[in-house]
Amino acid sequence: MSFKKSFTQQEAIPDEGIEAAIEIMKSGRLHRYNVNSGEKSLTDQLELAFSQYMGVDNCLACASCGYALHIALKALGVKEGDKVLCNAFTLAPVPGAIDNAGGVPVLVDIDKQLCIDLDDLENKARASGAKYLLLSHMRGHISDMDRIMKICKDFNLLLIEDCAHTMGAKWNGKMSGSFGDVACFSTQTYKHMNSGEGGLLITPHSDVISKAIIYSGSYMLYDKHYAAPDKQAFDAVKYTTPNYSGRMDNLRAAILLPQLELLDKKCTAWNDRYFAMSDIFKTSNEIVLIERDIKEQFVASSIQFFIPALSPTQFPLLIQACEAQGVSIKWFGDSEPNGYTSKYDSWHYISDKTSLVDTERILATLIDIRIPLTFTSKIV
Ligand SMILES: Cc1ncc(COP(=O)(O)O)c(C=O)c1O
Repeated sequence: MSFKKSFTQQEAIPDEGIEAAIEIMKSGRLHRYNVNSGEKSLTDQLELAFSQYMGVDNCLACASCGYALHIALKALGVKEGDKVLCNAFTLAPVPGAIDNAGGVPVLVDIDKQLCIDLDDLENKARASGAKYLLLSHMRGHISDMDRIMKICKDFNLLLIEDCAHTMGAKWNGKMSGSFGDVACFSTQTYKHMNSGEGGLLITPHSDVISKAIIYSGSYMLYDKHYAAPDKQAFDAVKYTTPNYSGRMDNLRAAILLPQLELLDKKCTAWNDRYFAMSDIFKTSNEIVLIERDIKEQFVASSIQFFIPALSPTQFPLLIQACEAQGVSIKWFGDSEPNGYTSKYDSWHYISDKTSLVDTERILATLIDIRIPLTFTSKIV
């Protein structure tokens, strides 16, 4: 008997979103600034709703999370050649955003909870003199944010949170994404809200959002933003900030708005499926699940575990055997980039990748499985 469901099948867009999308298509007003005087576009409404959900004043909807990370780094002041600390276990768009901003990624080791290694972070912050930390909450694993914030303070690091996998999650009761100077979220199909492509940037800083909005392609229409500061904040930067054109449109916002209302419920549904799966994995002597800190209120839209007994030549056989049973698994230890999965050592444009011994060892036996909500939590 093989497993019949697809590991890449997402839930349908809620009817309300489909109706709003049809409505905006009928109107022809898809561009976010195509509004009548005083009217708030769907993109404005999404920014206001997400800023309220996150408890921050400023939000910008963008073309993607990778794009949002790029302009976040630029808005925080990253210049050509500036070093940016980043965990070595992340997805390719993250070091890509650093490179795009002119920065130089300084990759930091990870620990067996798949979070950034805090001792290595301190060492590399000291040795590199970097002023930025791009912390990727990869696969929804949230670091000890109390210690992260202390390290940022001790080393004067500006913190950018990559929350592509932690929308709706918390650390010790505080929203993931509300710790940093900037946080970026993804609404690409496999994330916690789905608009095909899309990103959301939040920040408590008015000087950062004003630059980010102009970078995103506001032209001089920045006064049509509502999850944003007053005009004066823009006047200070409007002549010096280039337009890197990467806006979100009203069609995507139409699809996303009703999903935001359902987000918390969906987070619970992901965790129900995660716990059902992990209960089964716990019965195996071969599988080692990732330990999670009690303060981490994660959203498990995927599950990771180690199979320490397998050698590098056995993992491809396991992947094949699972595929034959209808089960798609990914292996982070593969030396070749594969599909969406790539390892830090395949990013050849980063020259300095010294001392990533732990990351190498940890990824060597790491398996990853997506948990789409089209699965149920019932074991049959
Ligand atoms: C950890 C992580 N960060 C950032 C991104 C970039 O998101 P986007 O595809 O919206 O640019 C991704 C995309 O998969 C990701 O997995």
